[in-house]
Amino acid sequence: MGHVWLIGMMGSGKSTVGQLVADRIERPFYDTDELVEQAGDASIPEIFAAEGESGFRDREKRIVEDVASRPSGIVAAGGGIVLDPANVARMRRSGTIVLLAGDAETLRRRVGLGDDRPLLPADDEERFQTIASERRELYRSSADVVVDATGTVDAVVAEVEAACSES
Ligand code: S3P
Repeated sequence: MGHVWLIGMMGSGKSTVGQLVADRIERPFYDTDELVEQAGDASIPEIFAAEGESGFRDREKRIVEDVASRPSGIVAAGGGIVLDPANVARMRRSGTIVLLAGDAETLRRRVGLGDDRPLLPADDEERFQTIASERRELYRSSADVVVDATGTVDAVVAEVEAACSES
């Protein structure tokens, strides 16, 4: 089996579902956001503040390369990873890309308001919807498999697990 890369908007449950699936099938779990933070010894908001989004994307790209060469597992990919076609090509070469999809309103409610996602300022309710529409096609065209992320966690885990057994 190759990697199973979980992509999708913030709030689609990539980290929660990814960890659960990895535990169930006894595979490593990787979270690109966490790995970016570990490698930079800084939080994502700190990296955005110091280096801007482009600095963060450069770091994220290096993590995609690094994870792609590690033992096969489940990867929770940061929501913006698909913005770089080189990332999508790298992910595809090393496994299967599974989109956790859902309507923007449901996913936005899950994300809530916080200060841990620099692209979602707490005072800009429209921003999530804008990003979701800008990326909708990109997510779809990058995905090998699309899973409905708005069901129960158990249902989403089961669907992703099925995708893993086919990968
Ligand atoms: C981002 C999503 C975040 C994180 C960063 C940028 C995005 O990850 O990588 O804040 O561009 O959608 P999650 O999708 O895990 O929230």
